[in-house]
Formats: sequence, structure tokens, C-alpha cells
Amino acid sequence: MVKLKYTEYTRVYIIIEVLTIALMWCVGIEFASIIMIVYLKTVFVASAVFLFSCCDGETAIQSEHIKMNERPIIGILSQEQDYRLKDKYSQENFMSYISASYVKSVEASGARVLPIFIGKSRNYYKELMSKINGVLYPGGNTWFNQSDGYADAGQHIYEIAQEFNDAGDYFPLFGTCLGFELFVIMASGKDRPENRVHCVAIGNYPLMFTEDYRSSKLFNQISKKSADLLEKENSTVHHHQFCIVDENLERYNLTKDWRVSSHSMDNQGKKFISSIEHRRYPFYGVQFHPEKPAFEWNKKNKYLRSRDAIDAQRYFMDFFVEECKRNSHKFIDEKEETDSLIYNYKPYYTGAQGAYFTQCYFFEPQMGH
Ligand SMILES: *[C@@H]1O[C@H](CO)[C@@H](O)[C@H](O)[C@H]1NC(C)=O
Ligand SMILES: *[C@@H]1O[C@H](CO)[C@@H](O)[C@H](O)[C@H]1NC(C)=O
Ligand SMILES: *[C@@H]1O[C@H](CO)[C@@H](O)[C@H](O)[C@H]1NC(C)=O
Repeated sequence: MVKLKYTEYTRVYIIIEVLTIALMWCVGIEFASIIMIVYLKTVFVASAVFLFSCCDGETAIQSEHIKMNERPIIGILSQEQDYRLKDKYSQENFMSYISASYVKSVEASGARVLPIFIGKSRNYYKELMSKINGVLYPGGNTWFNQSDGYADAGQHIYEIAQEFNDAGDYFPLFGTCLGFELFVIMASGKDRPENRVHCVAIGNYPLMFTEDYRSSKLFNQISKKSADLLEKENSTVHHHQFCIVDENLERYNLTKDWRVSSHSMDNQGKKFISSIEHRRYPFYGVQFHPEKPAFEWNKKNKYLRSRDAIDAQRYFMDFFVEECKRNSHKFIDEKEETDSLIYNYKPYYTGAQGAYFTQCYFFEPQMGH
């Protein structure tokens, strides 16, 4: 942009200069004097342009380009131990877990992961969030009424993220499946009213994009190829018994804050919301599971795993990681960062025990308290 302007200025300057020389020649000024005048003027203008452009350019860069954080760390919220996993690991004292597919999908898009524990004080969440660059709320199986669980932790994080963003500190959130449902329920009121409907959404469905989805923050950079695949194939993985329908948003006056960019249809033909974003905050939710096709291998589930399909699913974490790069929070020192990352934990091969998830991270009570 700036360069283009310079060439325009240069062209105008040369034209004016030629006209001036012609004028001076016409009124009879000596050739040697004309050369001298033109030379001095050029030196003067060039110096002025140099001084002007260096400072002007810098402020322009500051306001136009956000400095990206190339070492982003994303927190993934853990949740209450799943009863099906508890059956497989009945001897262990696991209190909470994170399915490793969420971790891998974030890592595949170029970020590191930190586990966020449940059952902690608001201070724990606030301090942690002041050091990381965004939070992913995974899907799962928990109720929102259990105290000190996923929903209570999720509520703290949601409110703190709002405070950060209100103060001009860009802090993104992404909710997948249950995480997306929790966003809508938290937005419906502090007492988290049950603002979902029952549905039967177990399968792979296409996305039905809204007319203006291309102008949403979530989808404005998606390739035509990926968008076509999501729209035409049974591509998005659904595994939920609750759905958010348009009426849920309307009933709680949420449409002024939340924008819907796609719907899907459950096994009984009920149309529900598949993707959503907050209009002011960098908060995004999808009802489907972009992390499953590349990283979950339970044979009961058939996913579209063509190269193009994997690529299309990958779009969502690529997008989110890019959002998180706009946040510059960091740990006090390297030791604190090293001690906090998920590399300190070993995932269990839960798939070998016949579990629904292929790999999981488990956390014991002392880690959670
Ligand atoms: C939470 O809600 C579920 C579903 O309504 C219910 O079955 C369960 O008993 C509730 N748990 C608590 C702790 O209130
Ligand atoms: C998607 O699944 C539905 C229901 O099973 C089926 O009728 C439809 O043909 C599938 N579409 C594609 C493109 O495979
Ligand atoms: C939604 O807005 C209408 C009109 O302002 C109001 O009467 C109603 O109580 C609101 N509903 C909720 C759930 O806040």
C-alpha cells in the first residue's frame, strides 16, 4: 500500500518538476541556475520524504499489524472422570481427564498445550490465564450441575476471559460440542439455565452454512475446497444428545451477541446450530468434533478420513491457534512454563482397553487441588 503511494507521489513530483523547469526556461532563467535550483529542491524534498516516511511508516505498522506470538500456549480444560473410563481404570484414583485427541489437534496446528484442572479457586484460573494465550473447552459427558467440575471451572474461565477482552487484552476461547453448549448456557444466565433441547445427533452430517457465513470471523478464511467438502459431504462428526436450536438463542435474547454460521440436521431431521461465534469477543463454538477424524480410531465410529476431509477438519484448530497468537501472555520464566505444560504427563492408551477414546490424559486429586 505505502509503496504504491510513494510511486504515485514520485510521478506527481516529476511532472511538477518538469513543468517548473519549462516555466523557468520560458521566463528566461539561465540554464545553470535552473540546474542548481532543481538540485537543491530535490535534496530538500528527498530529506523531507525520508524523515517523514520513517516515522509515519512506523506508526502505520503498529496500528495495522498485530505482533503475533509465535510460541502460543493453549489451555485445555479437563473434566470429571468419565464413568466409562472409570470402569476401565477402577483401581486408579483418577479425578479428571482430557482426551488426547484435543491435545494433538492443537499441537498439529502449531501450539503447545497446558492442562487446566477442575475444582480450583478463581485465583488459580485467573493466574493461569494471565500466562497462556487461549482456552479450549473440549467435548465430553459431564452435567453442568456438578459442583467444582467442568462447568464451574468453565464459568470462571468464561468470566475472566470477558474481563481480559473488556480491558483490551485479546483472549480467545473455543468450545467443542459440550464446550459449545456450555458457552450458550453460560450466556443464558449466571445460574446456567438448561437452555438446550434433546436431540439424537450421533453420526456424520454436512454443514448447512448460513447465507452470510463467509463474513463470519470463523469462516472468512476457509478455502473453497474445504467449505465445499463440509457442505456437501457427511463430514462433521456429531456425538451429542443435546442440541442448541435457533429458538434457544432467541428465548434468551442471545442473537445480539452470538452469530450463527452453520446448522446441521440430526437423525430425526431436527435442525440445530453447528457453529457459532461471539460478535465482540473472540469466542467460538462448534457442535461437532474437528479433532476426531485424525486422532480417534475406535472402530465403532466411521469418519471421513480422505486427505481433503482431514484438511477441512484441521481448519478449525488452525484458525483458533492463529487467534491465540494475537495474545502475548507468557510465563514468568522458562522453569515455570516447563513445569506447567502437558508434556509432564503421559497419555494412557485407553483404546487398547476398549475405551471410546484412543488416548487420554488422567489427573489425580493432588494435581487438581
Ligand atoms: C444434574 O442433572 C441431571 C440431569 O438433570 C440429574 O440427573 C442429576 O441428578 C443432577 N445432579 C445434581 C448433582 O444435581
Ligand atoms: C449422507 O448421509 C445420508 C444419511 O445416511 C445419506 O442419505 C446421504 O446420501 C449421505 N451423503 C453423502 C454425500 O454421502
Ligand atoms: C428478552 O428481551 C425481552 C425484551 O427486551 C424481555 O422482555 C425478556 O425478558 C428477555 N428475556 C430474557 C430471558 O432475558
